[in-house]
Amino acid sequence: MAQWTLFPIQPVCAGFTDRLSVSSWVMDETTLVLIKPGGVSRNLIGEITRRVEARGLRITGLKLVQAARATVEEHYAEHKERPFFKDVCDYLTSGPIVCMAVTGTNAVKAIRAMMGATNPLDATPGTVRGDLALTIDDNLTHSSSDDGAAERELKLWFPEGTVR
Ligand code: CDP
Ligand code: MG
Repeated sequence: MAQWTLFPIQPVCAGFTDRLSVSSWVMDETTLVLIKPGGVSRNLIGEITRRVEARGLRITGLKLVQAARATVEEHYAEHKERPFFKDVCDYLTSGPIVCMAVTGTNAVKAIRAMMGATNPLDATPGTVRGDLALTIDDNLTHSSSDDGAAERELKLWFPEGTVR
């Protein structure tokens, strides 16, 4: 009687796929970070950009600007009806801010996590807000909340485009 030997089935590209992790298929994303006037006046530009770069993300756009009121109001349009809208717009136009485009794998989510909860009192130690801020109205940074917001905000703050 014939004996059948069962060989483990190997995909033709087994050696190749073994060396790929799921994350290698994830496309780079670009997100927006703003360092608000309090971060600039407290000389925290270096500290915040250092953390972004140390995480392994690339800075693909960087400039110091005095923001126009109209730009800030468009940026925070989703909060137009909120009681803090005027104050946050006053604050963002009260001094220079840094606009930064940040690129890398899962950049949107990674940056949000690094910046921490909106209220610094709820922000985990180790985050920018949890380490360096104390109040919600002076929470040092803005970062895009999701892919759609990132696309919209990058167009608003970098109409000239960013580098690759
Ligand atoms: O900046 P983030 O996305 O974490 O928070 P947001 O809910 O989109 O709010 C935008 C900004 O408005 C915050 O970063 C605060 O500076 C300010 N804000 C405030 O001053 N008081 C609140 N109750 C909520 C937000
Ligand atoms: Mg937000």
